[in-house]
Amino acid sequence: MISLKTITALLSGAALAAAQCTIPPGTLSNNITYYFRAQVQNATRLEVHNKYMNFDEAGGGDKHLFIGPVGMPTYDLTLINGVIHQLSTGVRAVIGGEFSEIDHTTKLFTTGRGDNAAVFQPTYACNPDTGLLQIELRFVRWVGEPDGGFICVRHSFDGSHEFRYDPPGNTLIDVNRECIRVTLVVIPTGGTPPTTLSTVVTSTTTSSSSISTSSVAVTTSTSTSVTATTTTTSSTSTATALPYTDQTANGWRFIGCAPEERWTTDGAFRTLSGAMFGSDTMTNEACLAFCQAGGFAYGGTEWRRECWCGNSYAPTRQPATTLASLALCDYRCTGNSLQYCGGDAWLSLYAKCPTGGPCVNAVFS
Ligand SMILES: *[C@@H]1O[C@H](CO)[C@@H](O)[C@H](O)[C@H]1NC(C)=O
Ligand SMILES: *[C@@H]1O[C@H](CO)[C@@H](O)[C@H](O)[C@H]1NC(C)=O
Repeated sequence: MISLKTITALLSGAALAAAQCTIPPGTLSNNITYYFRAQVQNATRLEVHNKYMNFDEAGGGDKHLFIGPVGMPTYDLTLINGVIHQLSTGVRAVIGGEFSEIDHTTKLFTTGRGDNAAVFQPTYACNPDTGLLQIELRFVRWVGEPDGGFICVRHSFDGSHEFRYDPPGNTLIDVNRECIRVTLVVIPTGGTPPTTLSTVVTSTTTSSSSISTSSVAVTTSTSTSVTATTTTTSSTSTATALPYTDQTANGWRFIGCAPEERWTTDGAFRTLSGAMFGSDTMTNEACLAFCQAGGFAYGGTEWRRECWCGNSYAPTRQPATTLASLALCDYRCTGNSLQYCGGDAWLSLYAKCPTGGPCVNAVFS
């Protein structure tokens, strides 16, 4: 049902859009050297229109991107060579992981690691509501992929929307959680950043040196992890007979490879939502020790580097008991390439064994 408020907003938007602004000639630089917030616009989708991009701590230095209520308002963004950066935390916006088979979208998030960036071009445009001049961040490409595509937002947990990449030419839509295409708009936050950002102010004056320092750090960590992977690959094939990592010696039984990040009618989005952390040195031991310290009954690893804990999971998330189902949890852990840490939106799920009781993994056939 369309509310009166919606109709009024649509009409006023249409009326004001007629009063178009004048677009200045020339092309804007792909560096923005003042702080800004990123606003989301899609004037036909009022549930997201004019809301802001929030940052949410995802562990291990990663920050995930949401439209509230999840995440923190973020006022100190800059654009360097078309890439959104937050210099205070050393992260930049990249695309990768959590590919959806249903609509072919991929996650947009921020990290200090070397994932391929999302590139934008600042462009003058007229605000669809007010007709005033604004600077939009037009999406150019996901580095390494063909030019084009869109940034979109789709329903996530707790009433939030998460940011995703919609590839060029894509016509697939997930009817249960459509990814709404949006325009990102630069909202300058001025030359007087909040006092909590005083470290940022310091680094602005030396921005070129702080940028090169962080890119050196990224290169170092990437080459280190590549070396580590290469070293251990030779023994991988003899590491484990079963396509999962046994943790019964630590008091946890493996239940199976559980679906994660599904939008199901029971309202659950995450399979385990009690606590989480992410790390470039993730192992199943580290994850289950974390969940154990928190007193949780269930724990599991996902996407190589994430650990999730909880005390229950929805019946819709019960893993299958076929050997074939384990193939979806075949990602090697970032901290031990001999172990499996879930898959792309699949969780290697464990349950705490009763104290003094039997501790036996589920049987797969
Ligand atoms: C943008 O900033 C980067 C980093 O400071 C610099 O290397 C590049 O030349 C700048 N590009 C433009 C078009 O000013
Ligand atoms: C708004 O979102 C819909 C659904 O993704 C899309 O078809 C439309 O082009 C978007 N409009 C704008 C102005 O981005």
